[in-house]
Amino acid sequence: MNLQVGAKLIGVGKAVPRSVVTNADLEGLVDTSDEWITTRTGIRQRHVVSEGETATGLAIEAAKDAIGFAALDPAKIDLIIVATSTPDNLYPSTACMVQAAIGAKQAAAFDMEAACTGIIYALAVGQQFIGSGTFKTVLMIGVDVHSRFLNWEDRNTCILFGDGAGAFIMQASQKENENDMLATYLRADGSGGHLLCIPNSGVHYPHVGTTPEKATHRFLQMNGRAVYEFAINAVPDAVKTACARAGIEVKDIDFLVPHQANQRIIKAAAERLGFSPKQIVSNLDQYGNTSAASIPLAMADALMRKQIIPPAVCVLVGFGGGLTWGSAIIRWTAFDQRQITQENQNKEKTIGSTI
Ligand code: UT7
Repeated sequence: MNLQVGAKLIGVGKAVPRSVVTNADLEGLVDTSDEWITTRTGIRQRHVVSEGETATGLAIEAAKDAIGFAALDPAKIDLIIVATSTPDNLYPSTACMVQAAIGAKQAAAFDMEAACTGIIYALAVGQQFIGSGTFKTVLMIGVDVHSRFLNWEDRNTCILFGDGAGAFIMQASQKENENDMLATYLRADGSGGHLLCIPNSGVHYPHVGTTPEKATHRFLQMNGRAVYEFAINAVPDAVKTACARAGIEVKDIDFLVPHQANQRIIKAAAERLGFSPKQIVSNLDQYGNTSAASIPLAMADALMRKQIIPPAVCVLVGFGGGLTWGSAIIRWTAFDQRQITQENQNKEKTIGSTI
């Protein structure tokens, strides 16, 4: 990659709605069971928006969390990219709403869409802007509220998804020859678009929603088995190709941070690649599939519970609607600045109390 300026990730953040829907709750809605959902997917609960909670609100919360992690002045952010398939409005973009809410006075802002792979696409785009020297600090957010597009009478889909947002902050490296974005890899195969889609959700079908019959066309539809087969091949492809681009081997990677769609997909792909269970980052049981948000959400949680302790080489892998898939190999070196401040304060208190 001929980028002139190296990039590093300096922050991660997350936000989920307050309300939790458990597998037991779903047993009351569709013909399913906690046992089926847990064994077939690994999901135990998901967070779902309530009245008044929005995709924009979640994106803003995740952005603020990442800004806190990095102890960054929002006025220093040059660009905000929001990856989402479920924005509140076609425009203004979610990114523009975030820009205003966090006080990123100097920032450009736009949304982009690559379904569940969206945050990987956003990382790759952010890196290009930094690498070319155009921008120094980029905020990338993945947010999705799929609960609004689920048919809560369809057990094939409604059990899988949760709502949420996750964010990364990337900055131009201060030091010469330092680059923690080791490689990215993006792919698409539109011939499989029909396998996972929300038909008639755009301008192609302008009268959608005017009758109950037409409104049913706005539900997410998925051929689960076909997407499963695609995913267990896409993950190893994405990991191996990104490793080749980075000039490293799979054994040089410390952690696999995959899109959180199904624990069986994660396990099968990890086994093919030779990752041990300790190297797999997963919080699927808590949040379900949060689409573009799932990778930063998983990363934030893994750092918080100290599964990932910097420095660590991580491969982030996305796959989903489009079809799209892709990966980013990163060297994670950032620590949560809020915790560091807290630890210092505690130390000062201890020293003070012994005097
Ligand atoms: O981020 C986007 C990417 N999306 C994905 O990665 C999803 C990929 N696919 C999957 O995760 C899995 O295919 C599913 C979890 C969606 C389904 O698991 P599966 O093992 O592939 O099940 P299946 O679709 O082959 O269905 C097996 C049986 C069927 O019943 P019959 O025909 O064997 O009698 C389904 O009707 O399980 C039935 N079934 C359910 N039973 C209880 C499907 N959904 C449910 C359910 N509860 N919720």
